[in-house]
Amino acid sequence: RGFFGKLKTTFYVVSLAGVASYAYFVWAGRNPPQQEPQDPSKKTIVVLGSGWAATSLLKSIDTSEYNVVVISPHNYFLFTPLLPSVTVGTLDGRSIVQPTRHTTRFKAREVKVYEAEAEYVDPVNKTVTFSDKSEIQGASRKVTIPYDYLVYTVGTENQTFGIEGVKKHACFLKELNDAEKIRARLIDCVETAALKDQPEEEIDRLLHMVVVGGGPTGIEYAAELRDFVESDLIRWYPEVADKLRVTLIEALPNILPMFSQTLIKYTESTFKENSIDILTKHMVKDVDDTHVLVKTPSGEDKKIPYGLLVWAAGNTARPLTRQLMAALPEAQKNRRGLEVDDHMRLKGAENSIFALGDATATQFAPTAQAASQQGAYLGRVFNQLARLDVLETKLEAAKRDGASESEIRGIERQVEKAAKVRPFKYSHQGSLAYIGSEKAIADIPLLGENSIASGGVVTFMFWRSAYVSMLFSLRNRSLVATDWLKVSLFGRDVSRE
Ligand code: FAD
Ligand code: NAI
Repeated sequence: RGFFGKLKTTFYVVSLAGVASYAYFVWAGRNPPQQEPQDPSKKTIVVLGSGWAATSLLKSIDTSEYNVVVISPHNYFLFTPLLPSVTVGTLDGRSIVQPTRHTTRFKAREVKVYEAEAEYVDPVNKTVTFSDKSEIQGASRKVTIPYDYLVYTVGTENQTFGIEGVKKHACFLKELNDAEKIRARLIDCVETAALKDQPEEEIDRLLHMVVVGGGPTGIEYAAELRDFVESDLIRWYPEVADKLRVTLIEALPNILPMFSQTLIKYTESTFKENSIDILTKHMVKDVDDTHVLVKTPSGEDKKIPYGLLVWAAGNTARPLTRQLMAALPEAQKNRRGLEVDDHMRLKGAENSIFALGDATATQFAPTAQAASQQGAYLGRVFNQLARLDVLETKLEAAKRDGASESEIRGIERQVEKAAKVRPFKYSHQGSLAYIGSEKAIADIPLLGENSIASGGVVTFMFWRSAYVSMLFSLRNRSLVATDWLKVSLFGRDVSRE
């Protein structure tokens, strides 16, 4: 056999091995092993939340030495970086969520997962009270449980600056159902605009999509929306689609303040090409069911009509977080969020509460990147504390049983080493954002102070592969890749539930 014959054989062997390992991982992912039951003699860790920080912690912690309890109103982890794609049907919402039990069922010891909302944390008596807020209620509604350690990762809620109309009339983009609601309202606006005898003025209003906030959430949503209009709406709604306008309103002089000036300019010019209007230095002051009231750079008030309003104006602390701060008034004084030390221990409750992710006020930006690194760090800390417990017990036994001086000294050295817990260290991997028309921007740090700023189609390929590799499971990676393939073959679905 010649060179090409050998190449063909190698190709078959590699493909077969690839298919066999994929099949094995699919099988393994559906067949969780037996777990040890919870053990009352072990310490209890209660984790509040099932987002980035919590899931990353659950991945890295060794549960053999702890009883872990997870409490979250959502029984899944949501991969937020791809959430804007759900608003226009590029991805199906289910493709970017991972049921929390898909993570916990693979741990050595059973992890309890409760779909419930924490309502009260008592840092003095070390208890959490939570209740089931779902539609179906049983006899057990409100429960209080004790903890040895509490991991507080409940994230934030949307900042509305007390503007009443926002909650009433705008859509947010934080949870899965927010994205699904945006998609349904968008198609509703288009269908209503296309209705027989709809007056021109009303068509203009209904087809004006307004986004408030020029941070990455607002930018990525506007980008996805424009893609949807250009690739799909134009084909199926030719009578109205070209009247659809997208306007992004930002109070500051610049959009995307966390990116370099070059990438800001690149985004602005891409938006201009895609006919997305950016109104910087415009502050939204009020919202009613058909208009937003903005203060223009010259200080005048202007009413802007809208059909769909997406509010992406940043985050604020949840009421539960404020309640926890109020319980520790001496140590918690930062209105932005919970104050922690460099080991992610909550100030005022250092021995029992750790707080991670967006709920905290640290020098790190409130990103998935920081939250997941903190979760993985804390998992390692718990593993180290468990080793410390074992060594301390061993030391006590050695002393009690009259072990030799050198043997005791040896164990003492191991105890000292295990007791040294390193502080959390953040490693910035860069910032990425999708800006539409198969273009993305990336600020990637290199050695020292340098960074690469890149934008364009190649960056878009990088953006897609980076996020697919970051998805936590083979199941999610397969579903997302299939959704992208479906959309490239058949386009996005324009039907409405
Ligand atoms: P979250 O992930 O928000 O998790 C909070 C958890 O707490 C949730 O499971 C929630 O259900 C639960 N919870 C809420 N209330 C309670 C309660 N009372 N009791 C118990 N549990 C509760 N960051 C990036 O780095 N890169 C990106 O590309 C990126 N894209 C984003 C796109 C969008 C649309 C959004 C909204 C955010 C994006 N982010 C991105 C930011 C990132 O999602 C957050 O920084 C990250 O989710 C913070 O993680 P967390 O664990 O602190 O909170
Ligand atoms: P943000 O806080 O970054 O941006 C909100 C924007 O809204 C601000 O620029 C603010 O000036 C503006 N704003 C606030 N009130 C306003 C008003 N009344 N009128 C007009 N404009 C107003 O919020 P965002 O985009 O939701 O991001 C939150 C966090 O999540 C950030 O840390 C961000 O880095 C992270 N994130 C990262 C992404 C990425 O890396 N691709 C994607 C999405 C979020």
